[in-house]
Amino acid sequence: MRTAVVTGATGGIGSAVVAALVGRGHRVVALGRDADRLARLARDGVTPVAHDLRRGRAAPPEVLELERLDALVHCAGVAPVASVAGTTAETWDEVLGTNLVGPARLTAAALPALRAAQGAVVLVGMAPGLQDVPRWSAYAGSKAALRELAGSLRAEEPLLRVALVNPGGTATPLLARVRHELGRPYDPATALSPAAVAEAVADLLDSPAAGWRDVVDVLG
Ligand SMILES: NC(=O)c1ccc[n+]([C@@H]2O[C@H](COP(=O)([O-])OP(=O)(O)OC[C@H]3O[C@@H](n4cnc5c(N)ncnc54)[C@H](OP(=O)(O)O)[C@@H]3O)[C@@H](O)[C@H]2O)c1
Repeated sequence: MRTAVVTGATGGIGSAVVAALVGRGHRVVALGRDADRLARLARDGVTPVAHDLRRGRAAPPEVLELERLDALVHCAGVAPVASVAGTTAETWDEVLGTNLVGPARLTAAALPALRAAQGAVVLVGMAPGLQDVPRWSAYAGSKAALRELAGSLRAEEPLLRVALVNPGGTATPLLARVRHELGRPYDPATALSPAAVAEAVADLLDSPAAGWRDVVDVLG
């Protein structure tokens, strides 16, 4: 049975990825912080684990003890809205810690198991085509750096498959919050469903080597 680790498993996209991967026969170690939502993930094939990407060890024991890891899917992320002038040092720390440094440290800790399985690393980026967005520099900067992390990892680790998956606006608490703070309308009915993003991730992980794509834009 294939094993996957999913971060942000308590969130909109991450919880859908957990469901999709379990549906396709993976055993999933599901990482998140919120205790209630973690508890709701528990079912056959899913091991929920509390792990804060910004604090403490790079990876929890449930990840470190894996001998083989077929897929590491990074879905955790935060996206506060603030101008360059108004972004505090704490906010820079939070965004870069959650969206970039935490994923980099977790990936490094999981590398022996990923190499053993010739596994895949999927990093969820930002909506395709977004550029020069006012009041979103920390988020956009962290995701630009995540793209570079993916590129370096791909170049350094020839045994692994590494992809950046870029979903368009997806109906999750994060998008609702961002649209509210940007003063823009939010209609979940016109956004992508988390399940559609999750199917794209699961399809990629199921694809043969020749079908692998380094960048996947999910636009519905
Ligand atoms: N929604 C969109 O339109 C959209 C579009 C493009 C890209 N994305 C990206 O997709 C990813 C998932 O977003 P989403 O929309 O599903 O957001 P979401 O529903 O708000 O979920 C965010 C997840 O990140 C986790 N998280 C936040 N800080 C963390 C920390 N310090 N340590 C560990 N986990 C932490 C949360 O865990 P807890 O709740 O347990 O703290 C939660 O599981 C993000 O990287 C986001 O940038 C989203």
